[in-house]
Amino acid sequence: MGREIRSSLSFLQLNLFIFLLVLSPSSSLTPKPRLPPPPLGHGPAASALFIFGDSFFDVGNNNYIDTTTLDQANFWPYGETFFHYPTGRFSDGRLVPDFIAEKARLPFIPPFLQPGASHHAGVNFASAGAGALVETFRGSVIDLKSQMRGFGKVESQLVQRLGKSKARSKLSKAVYMFGIGSNDYMSPFLTNSTQLFASYSKRAYVGMVVGNLTTVVKDIYEKGGRRFGFINLPPLGCLPGLRLIGAWNNGSCFEEPSWLADLHNTALLTRLDVLKDQLRGFRYSLYDFNAFLRHRIDHPSKYGFAEARGACCGTGMFQGVFSCGGRRTVKEYQLCEDPSRHLFWDSYHLTERAYQQLAEELWSGKGNKSNLKDLFQGF
Ligand SMILES: *[C@@H]1O[C@H](CO)[C@@H](O)[C@H](O)[C@H]1NC(C)=O
Ligand SMILES: *[C@@H]1O[C@H](CO)[C@@H](O)[C@H](O)[C@H]1NC(C)=O
Ligand SMILES: *[C@@H]1O[C@H](CO)[C@@H](O)[C@H](O)[C@H]1NC(C)=O
Ligand SMILES: *[C@@H]1O[C@H](CO)[C@@H](O)[C@H](O)[C@H]1NC(C)=O
Repeated sequence: MGREIRSSLSFLQLNLFIFLLVLSPSSSLTPKPRLPPPPLGHGPAASALFIFGDSFFDVGNNNYIDTTTLDQANFWPYGETFFHYPTGRFSDGRLVPDFIAEKARLPFIPPFLQPGASHHAGVNFASAGAGALVETFRGSVIDLKSQMRGFGKVESQLVQRLGKSKARSKLSKAVYMFGIGSNDYMSPFLTNSTQLFASYSKRAYVGMVVGNLTTVVKDIYEKGGRRFGFINLPPLGCLPGLRLIGAWNNGSCFEEPSWLADLHNTALLTRLDVLKDQLRGFRYSLYDFNAFLRHRIDHPSKYGFAEARGACCGTGMFQGVFSCGGRRTVKEYQLCEDPSRHLFWDSYHLTERAYQQLAEELWSGKGNKSNLKDLFQGF
């Protein structure tokens, strides 16, 4: 009898197989390589990734808002290396959140504003040009507070769908990545609307930026979030766009923005340690993006780069004029032949090759216990 059941089962399976064969001629039959299951830590593995930040992390939200091409990258040659079409990412290919999602065996995490996108594996709220302060490039970006409102909407939908306790459990296992602050310190050097920056001491200004970031982190914690991943700020004055402004042109980095980034990074480290003591179960990793970039600027060839001062795409000194793609104020631009040899893609952003290296480091942390892999795997 057992055999009979088995054979009728396999008959059924055969029918199903033929049925599928007819329905989907190619894709479902292509054998997918099976990855071994990820090793598990003490806690459950994360099944979702939520992303907050600026153009280092924006995968296309600004395609959907009323802004200018200064805060958009949905035109050629953005995307030329990987997607082969412009997606809105400020690079020639993938960004850090794309690589991290891949490592966590999640699909690409879609931009919050993309119509009809599935939110089951997480949502990306980041917006190019955004700062932690609402004043930063106000009117042309989605500031951090508004990104948080987006997360609130996603949370309500999740509660409606799963019920309160299941939604909270999902949110507590998710990882929350932040990359924000650069624009708060760069905008005073790039625009004339520097009222806020001018009317506070530098330390007080840094306090406001870190304070507003902390507020959002606490709000997410209140909604159940426990696992947080941060990157600190790069040496801002060494980005080609600022090197161009500040060097007076002997070619060195522009000191003041880099100094502000250092102040911010120290304050952030201190604040996160305080949060860890204040909030029960709060776990975080903080990756030193600043050191990452300095190492590569100082020793490019050690990391496979031929050029670590000038951008691949842009014009003027260091290709630092923000004209990549010819759709901004300045239309003229040059494009390098091989972006993978460059650290910087355009005036303010890195190449896919550099982001891939950053994601590797962020994930494995090289002996540093506070890495994203541990957060995802629940160690
Ligand atoms: C700032 O203002 C000065 C003087 O009004 C003007 O020449 C300059 O182009 C402005 N810069 C920016 C970035 O708007
Ligand atoms: C957040 O930023 C605003 C300016 O946008 C500032 O007035 C406020 O004090 C900041 N909040 C914190 C908690 O630092
Ligand atoms: C470039 O100028 C800055 C500011 O004057 C100075 O501190 C720095 O030493 C100079 N660098 C070189 C390589 O001359
Ligand atoms: C891990 O990274 C943090 C942040 O950069 C740093 O302060 C800490 O010293 C690192 N720990 C180890 C063991 O390398």
